[in-house]
Amino acid sequence: MAFITAVSSEKGGQGKSTILLQMAGYAGKTKKVLCLEVDIQKNLTLVLEDSEPKHTIYDVVKGSVSTKDAILPSVFKGIDYIPGSRKLKGINVDTTKMQSILNEVQSEYDLIFIDCPANLTSLVESSYTVADLIITPIEMELFALSNVTELIETVQSYNKRAEVVLVPNKVIGRSKLNKNVREHLDEIVEQYDNVKVGTELPNSIVISNFMSEGKLLINAMRLNPLKDKLKELYKELYK
Ligand SMILES: Nc1ncnc2c1ncn2[C@@H]1O[C@H](COP(=O)(O)OP(=O)(O)OP(=O)(O)O)[C@@H](O)[C@H]1O
Ligand SMILES: [Mg+2]
Repeated sequence: MAFITAVSSEKGGQGKSTILLQMAGYAGKTKKVLCLEVDIQKNLTLVLEDSEPKHTIYDVVKGSVSTKDAILPSVFKGIDYIPGSRKLKGINVDTTKMQSILNEVQSEYDLIFIDCPANLTSLVESSYTVADLIITPIEMELFALSNVTELIETVQSYNKRAEVVLVPNKVIGRSKLNKNVREHLDEIVEQYDNVKVGTELPNSIVISNFMSEGKLLINAMRLNPLKDKLKELYKELYK
């Protein structure tokens, strides 16, 4: 049965889609991976897609096509995906919806990743109920902390068994702000079971350059501190 990861944060631009892609890309070298996106922005889909899809996650949610029939191979080795759709906007589903979407295919994959939007939609809530792991990237600034407690409490109201890993992202050196925010994060996680702070990921412009060329930093030959930390995070989460 596939191990399910939802990547979610209640603040935009923290690095959800980026981290998901790097984790999925590294896993895809040796494992069978399925990615799906419940974000109407379709950022993940744009990177993964090879051609114009016949069906999207919207058709699956509506029940007009089976999950299996919507799955496509992506441009990356080992990764299949279900294309995202702008038509998900405003759609309301039952909390059991994601489970019924994944039931059919969960035994065929090792890892399933769900890319969530920055707002709490019913599809996000239903993703929380099926997830074994929630990855929440956090930029190390005080504003980014305000929604973290809320996210943890929302996740735990749907699923007490899931592990929540807060990943400090775009970390710049040993700044005072970084140290301050880290202390706050450590205090927050102490208040909850199943919540921890994961490997810190440094800020690196290289990641955007790689993405714009359709390449995954984590599988690149070049030496880069962010690449090493992404691998460390992968090993921490999936080994
Ligand atoms: N460690 C990093 N160093 C530098 N830039 C990064 C890092 N991680 C992500 N970024 C950049 O930050 C921007 C936002 O990343 P991303 O789109 O993954 O965030 P997101 O949380 O998925 O956003 P949204 O809420 O809009 O879905 C992108 O330009 C990405 O390249
Ligand atoms: Mg995103």
